[in-house]
Amino acid sequence: MNGNGPAIRAQGLRRTYGSTRALDGLDMTVARGSVHAVLGPNGSGKTTLVRTLATLLRVREGRAEVAGFDVTDRPRDVRRRIGLLGQHAAVDEELSGRQNLELFGRLYHLGGRRAAARADELLERFGIADTGRRAVGTYSGGMRRRLDLAASLIVEPEVLFLDEPTTGLDPRGRTEVWESVRSLVGGGTTVLLTTQYLEEADQLADRISVLDHGRVIAEGTSDQLKAELGGDRIDVVVRDAGQLAGVAELLAGITGDAAGVETDTDTRRISAPVADRMSALNRLVRSLHDHGVEAEDVSVRRPTLDEVFMHLTGDMKEEVPQ
Ligand SMILES: Nc1ncnc2c1ncn2[C@@H]1O[C@H](COP(=O)(O)OP(=O)(O)O)[C@@H](O)[C@H]1O
Ligand SMILES: [Mg+2]
Repeated sequence: MNGNGPAIRAQGLRRTYGSTRALDGLDMTVARGSVHAVLGPNGSGKTTLVRTLATLLRVREGRAEVAGFDVTDRPRDVRRRIGLLGQHAAVDEELSGRQNLELFGRLYHLGGRRAAARADELLERFGIADTGRRAVGTYSGGMRRRLDLAASLIVEPEVLFLDEPTTGLDPRGRTEVWESVRSLVGGGTTVLLTTQYLEEADQLADRISVLDHGRVIAEGTSDQLKAELGGDRIDVVVRDAGQLAGVAELLAGITGDAAGVETDTDTRRISAPVADRMSALNRLVRSLHDHGVEAEDVSVRRPTLDEVFMHLTGDMKEEVPQ
């Protein structure tokens, strides 16, 4: 990598399609060797960002550097150092996984023997060695995506872009891809991955940029984003749904914030943000006892990323499958 700067630096990136602002003054810095998630709903600009950083779209406004090279002035130097897993990969269904990888190796000017060795190594690394000789057309979604990942790693990139690597996979396929991504990071590769899944960002990323309408609206570690929402929350689950309203009132009395109290009738759960967790917990338990309320569960917890995003973007929730 060139110089000592970050793996990726974007400043003021802007791009419009007609009246749509796909990127609207986007800033982002990604440290070397880290996994950085760009989390945003459909249409928030994730693919436009990835394609711009990967030199497939020209920068119109703003600037970006990848692996220490400006994407506009030195696109060839950038391309030599990156890998890209797009939403549609270029593997041949009729060939086996191994043949596909060998083909990619040749494409990158590895000799026949090195290409074969590299194919075997990658199949092994992504846990698809057993199926390496079967036609790709017979692969499960998760296996297929792991093969795509392997293909993007033929010549070890310094920076790897993964555009929604698990979209469309079932939970098992998703877990398989997560494991593969984790195994990459040990090798020092910087990974920028885009996702619509809160859990994916939470599981994989060192830092998360939340994208909405082409802008970063929040950035930090998963813990920082959770802390920004205002610290801990207290949860009470009551045995009798008839007591929900009464307990909500008790809780509001303790936190002094009636608007912050949320009631979920289905799960018989009342939840509220608290400033001083132990004091709130003590007072609540005493108050429940005094009022003869039977609680099934009382707990103090950090907010979930889900709650963070509901708070940040009112409209995001519907876009994110649970
Ligand atoms: N080639 C294009 N022509 C017109 N509009 C586009 C084009 N590419 C993207 N857009 C629009 O730009 C916005 C961002 O798109 P995209 O970067 O694909 O978002 P994401 O990958 O987060 O779903 C969307 O509103 C999309 O419709
Ligand atoms: Mg996209």
